[in-house]
Amino acid sequence: MWAYLNGEFLKSNEAKISPLDRGFTFGDGVYEVIPSYNKKLFLFQEHLERLRSSLNKAFINEPDDLNNLEDTLLELHKRNIHKNQFFYIQISRGTQVERSHLSNDRLSPTVFITSQNLEDNPYRIDPSKLGLKIRLEEDLRWGRCDIKTTALMGNILSMHDPSLDPVDEIVLFKNGKINEGSKSNIFMVKKDKVYTPPLSQNILPGITRNYVIQLLQKNNLILVEEEISTDFVYESDEIWLTSSTKEIQPVAQVGDYKLPKKKCDHIWKRILSLYI
Ligand code: PDD
Repeated sequence: MWAYLNGEFLKSNEAKISPLDRGFTFGDGVYEVIPSYNKKLFLFQEHLERLRSSLNKAFINEPDDLNNLEDTLLELHKRNIHKNQFFYIQISRGTQVERSHLSNDRLSPTVFITSQNLEDNPYRIDPSKLGLKIRLEEDLRWGRCDIKTTALMGNILSMHDPSLDPVDEIVLFKNGKINEGSKSNIFMVKKDKVYTPPLSQNILPGITRNYVIQLLQKNNLILVEEEISTDFVYESDEIWLTSSTKEIQPVAQVGDYKLPKKKCDHIWKRILSLYI
């Protein structure tokens, strides 16, 4: 697999980053995940804008590599062969020889990019496939989830707890209100209205979330961005998760609770076909 590191294309097993990189010692970096279909980047400008915003909010200097990021990704796509891919772009504050929480502004950010095969969304191929199983959990993350930081312990911790059953996604709530998935945003449908938590809550401004909202609005579907209580999950007709790698995927089960089968058409199917 080919990767890109600080201006150079190289085989990923030859890419070397210092253990003194603050990405390693402090989890001090931001990242972005961008899908690409048939050598065409999807919603590239939106992802670039969010990456710039994450850097800015984290006070990390913007590296020059961003000026030709699109060409870099397309070159990686060519080298890594797969038809559809997703790019992982990580930018850390840089390497710092002496350990100090505070860094100096002379550090130059480390830019690391890989790409890998983007699995087909199974619900594109078979919309009648049983939906995902999720679990609700208290959101224990920090208060700046609008920054796409590489420090994801709060997102992944309970996935590694051997006493818990595996699920497809963990949906996080705080003070009885749903925030988002550990790696996705969430939408719910009740009586043909689509609900999603607002960006004013502690969530990532998902690029797919935003795109889905535009699709809903263009197609005259009612979207309500408001606080959603955990009880709402058990009253909703549909639940879907969205992300750049999962696109739009339905949920069938929340813990032991199975969502009732809908008699009429599912809105998520319409949105997924518009997305495609
Ligand atoms: N995750 N919320 C969280 C916490 C996420 O990690 C993600 C995406 C999303 C959806 O955002 P978007 O639609 O921009 O992909 C929401 C990526 C895919 C990841 O970490 O791999």
